[in-house]
Amino acid sequence: MIIYAGKDYQDVSRKAANIMSAQIIMKPDAVLGLATGSTPVGMYAQLVEWYKKGDLDFSRVTSVNLDEYKGLSGDNDQSYRYFMDHNLFDHVNIDKARTFVPDGLEEDSDKACAQYNEIIRQTGGVDMQLLGIGGNGHIGFNEPGDAFEKETHCVDLTESTIRANSRFFESMDEVPKQAYTMGIGNIMAAKKILLVATGTSKAEALYNSLYGPITPKVPASILQLHPDLTVVADEDALSMIREKIK
Ligand code: PGA
Repeated sequence: MIIYAGKDYQDVSRKAANIMSAQIIMKPDAVLGLATGSTPVGMYAQLVEWYKKGDLDFSRVTSVNLDEYKGLSGDNDQSYRYFMDHNLFDHVNIDKARTFVPDGLEEDSDKACAQYNEIIRQTGGVDMQLLGIGGNGHIGFNEPGDAFEKETHCVDLTESTIRANSRFFESMDEVPKQAYTMGIGNIMAAKKILLVATGTSKAEALYNSLYGPITPKVPASILQLHPDLTVVADEDALSMIREKIK
């Protein structure tokens, strides 16, 4: 495991973008595993800037995203497809036909998950998987539980997530109650993993994930077993590690 410390969100975003860029330059037909959330927004903005300067070429890149809300179409501004289009895909020369996100409109969960596992297999495997981390140690929508889920599966969102999301929708009926997410096995199969974390709200999860026991109660703790894990985090997110690991 390599940990890079950044000063702040901007610095972390640039460092993470540097690592992702290196992957694309070294392997122009790379398969990137991508993530949504507030953490990677700055990294995507940096990649777009470097693309516009002519330093990056996405024309042969394939991407597979971690997760998507069940029931939302890609046009819905709360969907993760929409997020990816707006933060990255619409601003670079990636072939949209080779950008994959679980199909939120597929009502048959078994079918949606089997299809997504097959898509991941057909890419030939993820070269670099980007991950954020939840304050509870979740990765993708793999929440703390009694077992690690291996492949893409459908998860019931927690009451607090549903409530938090309700402010983005006109009625409670429209708020997604479930999501499709890659499993821990899919994530661990990536050749390289790039975990990005900023802010004190991530400090405990980051410490537990990287130095605590490996347990499904902290899903990201499984990353300790990955042979090629790079972490980029700011001083706030690293604060508990700094305190405990001398
Ligand atoms: P965030 O979410 O980037 O919005 O903090 C990360 C995550 O929950 O995986």
